[in-house]
Amino acid sequence: MPTKDTVTLIDNRTGKEIELDLLKPTSGPMTIDISSLYKELGYFTYDPGFMATASCWSNITYLDGGKGVLEYRGYPIEQLAEESTFLETCYLLLNGELPNKNELAEFEGSINKHCMLHEQLKTFYSGFRRDAHPMATMVGVVGALSAFYHDDEDVHDESDRMDAAHRLIAKMPTMAAWSYRYAMGMPFVQPRNDLGYSENFLHMMFSMPSEEYKVDPIMAKALDVILILHADHEQNASTSTVRLAGSSQANPFAVLSAGIASLWGPAHGGANEAVIQMLTDINESGRPLSEFIDRAKDKEDRFRLMGFGHRVYKNYDPRAKIIREICHEMLENNPVSDPKHQALLDTAMELEKIALEDDYFKSRNLYPNVDFYSGIIFLGMGIPLNMFTVLFALGRTVGWVSQWNEMMGDPKAKIGRPRQLYTGEATRDYKGIDKR
Ligand code: CMC
Repeated sequence: MPTKDTVTLIDNRTGKEIELDLLKPTSGPMTIDISSLYKELGYFTYDPGFMATASCWSNITYLDGGKGVLEYRGYPIEQLAEESTFLETCYLLLNGELPNKNELAEFEGSINKHCMLHEQLKTFYSGFRRDAHPMATMVGVVGALSAFYHDDEDVHDESDRMDAAHRLIAKMPTMAAWSYRYAMGMPFVQPRNDLGYSENFLHMMFSMPSEEYKVDPIMAKALDVILILHADHEQNASTSTVRLAGSSQANPFAVLSAGIASLWGPAHGGANEAVIQMLTDINESGRPLSEFIDRAKDKEDRFRLMGFGHRVYKNYDPRAKIIREICHEMLENNPVSDPKHQALLDTAMELEKIALEDDYFKSRNLYPNVDFYSGIIFLGMGIPLNMFTVLFALGRTVGWVSQWNEMMGDPKAKIGRPRQLYTGEATRDYKGIDKR
């Protein structure tokens, strides 16, 4: 990775000069290797929110926020969304190459083999209140899998890591659907190996023992594309959480549970649910939309337009571009029967129009992001609101395990241990309680 290029850093306080290597990525900005900085000059670097810091190297996903580019293993997201399937994309992310027919069949067979849950795991569901948010249930149940697969898992063994990855990808739809079934007081539905990945999830979510349920192929296809779009997104908050938790060589199922917890926040994956909540609040308030736009601009008000803005995409979010088309197509072809839903969709479309034309949003590059449209699509599909972020987690699982596997396979990987800029009290002497 290092090139002959270096940057020279001069310490104006001492006059000392040091050369720092410039690392050249396949694509993206040259990166200064500052790992020797503390040893050489005795300084830390400070970059809250990682605005300009590469936390690791990675061969998996590339994104260029300025140009609106997203690629998995070099393949543009547009091509994968158009031509691939979610499971094929999972294989690609995990293994680095697209599979041939045999490899794909073998991979699909392995995912089918692992999709059932241990009977004992059911008891974890019943420990939750019925009204528990399915993301809370997911944090618990995925973490609980670590108790089922611990002693026989060696995180340094590549084949054990692949086993864990296959298990997680396979069991996630079952665990996700069951978190909803439990909340609704409905019986758990077992997975079916004759169905595709997305079809199987819909079957476990919506079918009833008392009547036949036919998965709508258009809905299954739309879900498959949405899962592809969410499959990985380089070093975002939840993936960085997974890497940091995994860097201590912890159990992968416990590590994934940490990733799910991080994803849940409304600034990250929880935004798809927050978008619909916001639209509902707007409609129920009876206040004009412009009032909410003004609130979003007001620095004294914590209100933000959910589903707008992105840390990295400052032109457009390529995932949002793809999903926007699906969203508009769905709205045109599937009239919604529930007037409340229709009113939410109308408000969403009005908001999209206003924000795209408003100077505040334009000057800050605040475009509708993937969560804005996925929230609307899920609403149109009849997915319950509290399951929206669970679907994000379902898609992102492969990204998390691919990034974890990459890190664990690096013999030079170290435990993650950031430093800090201490701003607390200087050293002081303890005072007995009667002297305070
Ligand atoms: N509504 C109103 N103003 C906003 C918004 C918003 N949604 N997002 C950013 N801004 C403003 C912000 O106030 C700031 O203004 P100023 O420069 O005048 O101080 C400027 O835009 C830059 O914002 P920032 O907070 O510095 O940007 P960030 O990179 O730290 O935050 C974000 C990115 C996604 C957390 C933020 O845009 C946000 O909170 N969006 C709403 C939540 C959301 O939709 N999240 C999903 C992200 S996409 C899915 C995923 O990958 O997880």
